[in-house]
Amino acid sequence: MSTNSISKLTTQDFELNSNAKQKISKILETSNHDPKNLIQILQDLQDEFKYLPEKIISHIAKELKISEHHIFGVATFYSQFKFIKPGKHIIRVCMGTACHVLGAQSLLDNLSRDLGINTGETTKDDLFSLESVYCLGCCALAPVMVIDEDVYGSMTAAKVNRILRKYRKEAKPKQNKSGANKK
Ligand code: FES
Repeated sequence: MSTNSISKLTTQDFELNSNAKQKISKILETSNHDPKNLIQILQDLQDEFKYLPEKIISHIAKELKISEHHIFGVATFYSQFKFIKPGKHIIRVCMGTACHVLGAQSLLDNLSRDLGINTGETTKDDLFSLESVYCLGCCALAPVMVIDEDVYGSMTAAKVNRILRKYRKEAKPKQNKSGANKK
């Protein structure tokens, strides 16, 4: 993989500040700075930062004394790793058998239409990312979607609408009585 293609794969605006470096160094310490623990390190980094920006990959390559290309090679092999900054809220729609039978595809289509994005994409305002997954382990609630940690079951188009409205409302800056934005 060329450096150029790596750059195209990742979000470029991540700031590797001292706070981020501290968090990375803690994760590397937990894994004994051992490149053999690379997958665990990448998982911990993604849990902490929600994705794997190029600057973090370069940083850990130096720390672990291995090449960036090797790290990208490993990370791109596993679909769990993300290289693009996700939205503030991650919506996961279950496409497992029970959900599929009860209309998961039309749930996903509704969401996709409402958000104006396809699976794997993030809305322009960075509020939502849309993903599909296979069985969230709560089939009795099918069809199911999860937003961040919140599970929504027996989904219908009307419910989707209501739930998205709630998140959009929460994301709007609060206004005081004079109509000015609160700081
Ligand atoms: S199939 Fe959707 S939660 Fe199991």
